[in-house]
Amino acid sequence: MLDKKIIDLCNHQINKELYSAYLYLSIANYYAEKNLEGFAHWFNLQAKEEYEHAEKFMNYVHDNGSEVILGSIEAPKNDYNDPIEPLKVTVEHEKYVTDLINEIVKVAHELCDYRTLNFLSWFINEQAEEEKTANDLLARYEIFVNDKKNLYLFDQEMKSRA
Ligand SMILES: [Fe+2]
Ligand SMILES: [Fe+2]
Repeated sequence: MLDKKIIDLCNHQINKELYSAYLYLSIANYYAEKNLEGFAHWFNLQAKEEYEHAEKFMNYVHDNGSEVILGSIEAPKNDYNDPIEPLKVTVEHEKYVTDLINEIVKVAHELCDYRTLNFLSWFINEQAEEEKTANDLLARYEIFVNDKKNLYLFDQEMKSRA
């Protein structure tokens, strides 16, 4: 049996992962509306990944005989000033999610909950990757934004994400 604090934090994280999916869907829609199809595709896939993160937490709660409680999901921002803003939002959001994961790690550590620490190690690695990817996207966008041809090629490359 997991400590109630851990179950509550897992349920909170499920909500935040679903919010992440929702946020990335809003970004995908924004890019689709701006005809940046590659960016739209990339963020649609990212939204699916976030949904999978929520699923991992739901399975973990169930596998430990506890209950998943779904709350309401906050509405994401639906409009952006320019195509670079969603990339900045993504960088900040992934840092925030890393902080959330670290908080669960901290509590699991205090409780000597080694099972949860082991479960969370996947998310620690995943967040390192997600932050790097978000930073790289923003940095590359800043390089290419002034050259329409390079921006076109960048968008094509984003389209190839499988
Ligand atoms: Fe996530
Ligand atoms: Fe993420």
